[in-house]
Amino acid sequence: MAAQTLKKSALSRREFLGWAWAVSLAGLFGQGGLGLFQFFKPRAVSGAFGGEVVAGAPEEFKPGAVSYVRQGRFYISRLEDGGLLALWQRCTHLGCTVPWREDEGQFHCPCHSSLFNRQGEVTGGPAPRPLDIFPVSLKDGNLVVDTQHPISRKRFDPSQAFYPG
Ligand code: FES
Repeated sequence: MAAQTLKKSALSRREFLGWAWAVSLAGLFGQGGLGLFQFFKPRAVSGAFGGEVVAGAPEEFKPGAVSYVRQGRFYISRLEDGGLLALWQRCTHLGCTVPWREDEGQFHCPCHSSLFNRQGEVTGGPAPRPLDIFPVSLKDGNLVVDTQHPISRKRFDPSQAFYPG
């Protein structure tokens, strides 16, 4: 009788240890998986590409000028009527960085020679659509560009421009 009780008790201890191992391993893999998810998920970094970027005061951008904002990877293109576009530097053909060529008065992609005007519209080359734009708002007197939410478009429309008022 005493031996049976002892055997039963040892078995339940073995079961307990088995469960303890299973729970520990589940916790370990769960934490590892969570760490991997956190590592790979897109981050909204304030002040840098992927988050909200302060471009500067509207009066810093003269009508007709195209200015590069490096930390946000976009250009501020100020239209002649005062409207502002935040154009993503990424070519809509295969993703190359598109420089603004002041000497040409246009964006000229170095990879396959797509050309875009100040509004980001395609004027030549294989790009299938205009440069993407980012939403622009005014906060504390500065233009704030939301680089987390690029907007793809088929053509330029004046309603896409931001007017600081
Ligand atoms: S990536 Fe710009 S034209 Fe091909």
